[in-house]
Amino acid sequence: MPAQVDIPEKTVQGIDHHVLERENCPPSPTSLDGKIAVVTGGARGIGEATVRLLVKNGAKVVIADVNDSLGLELATSLASSATFVHCDVSLEEDIENLINSTIARYGQIDILVNNAGVFGNQSKRKSIMDFDAGEFDKIMSINVRGMALGIKHASRVMTNRGYGSIINMASVAGVMGGFGPHAYTASKHAIVGLTKNTACELGRYGIRVNCISPFGVATPMLVNGLRGADEEEEDCVMNFGVPSEEEVEKNEEFVRGIANLKGTTLRANDIAEAALYLASDGAQYVSGHNLVVDGGVTTGSKLLGYN
Ligand SMILES: NC(=O)c1ccc[n+]([C@@H]2O[C@H](COP(=O)([O-])OP(=O)(O)OC[C@H]3O[C@@H](n4cnc5c(N)ncnc54)[C@H](O)[C@@H]3O)[C@@H](O)[C@H]2O)c1
Repeated sequence: MPAQVDIPEKTVQGIDHHVLERENCPPSPTSLDGKIAVVTGGARGIGEATVRLLVKNGAKVVIADVNDSLGLELATSLASSATFVHCDVSLEEDIENLINSTIARYGQIDILVNNAGVFGNQSKRKSIMDFDAGEFDKIMSINVRGMALGIKHASRVMTNRGYGSIINMASVAGVMGGFGPHAYTASKHAIVGLTKNTACELGRYGIRVNCISPFGVATPMLVNGLRGADEEEEDCVMNFGVPSEEEVEKNEEFVRGIANLKGTTLRANDIAEAALYLASDGAQYVSGHNLVVDGGVTTGSKLLGYN
């Protein structure tokens, strides 16, 4: 048992000021009223949760995805707060069309969530000795080139207003090795580098660039990725169905088993909350940051001397 520590009620000077400030509470810094956001890969999973949370906090959101049926369904369910644009992020003409059509409709872009990404197949290309160059290029073209193209075209319009928040979806696989296939891991490390470098350049225009590194969330991507560990799956990119409740529970159980933080389950909404923070003016001085949402799993391995 750790020794009991008595924490005096007021130990920190200035705590009363916080109380006073709260009484004259300014509007929440996470309010996105009047803001226009674009979310790639927004039709399902982490992207969908992000779209919903940004809308809930006042933003108008453009959902960009290759999955037209899910994207349209989501946009329709959010009525005038969202629209859908077909966009394959690996194609520059699609990205240009996404940004141009958003400007034509809303006149501005305040937030870009570069979320679209693919995992690749675990089973067939597990060993680097079986490295598949074609699959590597495909994954890099979506996960890295797609994000670079998004930053390119969004920043061009954001510079006009001297304001913008760009959020790239990285991963714990971009922090440490061992969390995914080689191509995926390489791509996620590249996203962290791209984030830092573009933050260095774009800060002068008032544009912030950050990334988020989630641990395992039982989305279709993760379920399929882990399913691929013992099943054959031809299409590494996206040709798989919606996971059953049983599969989601099995994946959440698996993640809880290797998690550092116990007593809770990481869900897509936790990642959306991180995106909301980075998108908002509450993070107005945060740029070049990798916001790791992993319950501490990448901070170290076992703590010696503890069970
Ligand atoms: N689920 C996790 O455990 C996890 C962990 C860390 C990072 N991530 C990252 O989060 C992001 C979202 O993943 P998810 O788990 O929600 O996956 P998901 O497969 O459930 O959703 C991804 C979405 O991206 C879309 N998409 C795929 N290729 C695209 C393309 N070329 N152009 C546009 N859209 C495309 C898909 O149609 C889908 O709607 C990815 O970048 C992923 O690498 C996920």
